[in-house]
Amino acid sequence: MHNLIPIESPLFLSAEDLAERPDWSAVFANNNPLALEIGCGIGDFVVDMATHNKECNFIALDFYNKGCIKSCKRAERAELTNVRIVRDEARSFIRRCLLPSSLKAVYINCPDPWPKRYQRKRRLVNQEFISLLESYLKPGAFFTFSTDFDDYGIDLAHLMSRQTGFENMLAPDLWRHDIEDYPRSKYMLKFMAEGKEIYFVQYRRKA
Ligand SMILES: C[S@@+](CC[C@H](N)C(=O)[O-])C[C@H]1O[C@@H](n2cnc3c(N)ncnc32)[C@H](O)[C@@H]1O
Repeated sequence: MHNLIPIESPLFLSAEDLAERPDWSAVFANNNPLALEIGCGIGDFVVDMATHNKECNFIALDFYNKGCIKSCKRAERAELTNVRIVRDEARSFIRRCLLPSSLKAVYINCPDPWPKRYQRKRRLVNQEFISLLESYLKPGAFFTFSTDFDDYGIDLAHLMSRQTGFENMLAPDLWRHDIEDYPRSKYMLKFMAEGKEIYFVQYRRKA
């Protein structure tokens, strides 16, 4: 990658620096469970989660360099040691850097909606992605998704309801507009200020 502002933070890992399937317990210097946020943006969500869940290690992933810089600064200001910010593409990172059945939780908040009908095939979260994710979640691990875009939220809610390997944590609802104690991300707050509802979908990989 060229012309990227270098990131000096000790919490930062670039795709190029990461070995194939690194030893995450060595990276974090402990054996705590591992959670992944995909598309961390400015890092507000992961910093809130990591602050309140010190017994868990968080990988915050984004391919946007400026977002990684902001996320690193935010995590450093919060003096967190249980967060690493990784600049990489989600699918390539998961395949190259994680062991199957290694994640305790995955969070995806307000992914790019690709709203026009002809753009929808570019959406990150689809059947292929869910199948990929499933194999990297431990039995009992959580997958939480949020979006302001009703079509994305409802489509994913239906898609998840057909996955035999997952159990709906919001049953009997397929989606909700709030999950108690779930931190608000920058985009969630922006959409809520515009009067939009957030669609939350939450599942657990069956044991
Ligand atoms: C609309 S923003 C939402 C940011 C944040 N989650 C929030 O809710 O405020 C989507 C973020 O996902 C990142 N992103 C989109 N596709 C990605 C991918 N395939 N791999 C890694 N990051 C991705 C973008 O760079 C952007 O920062």
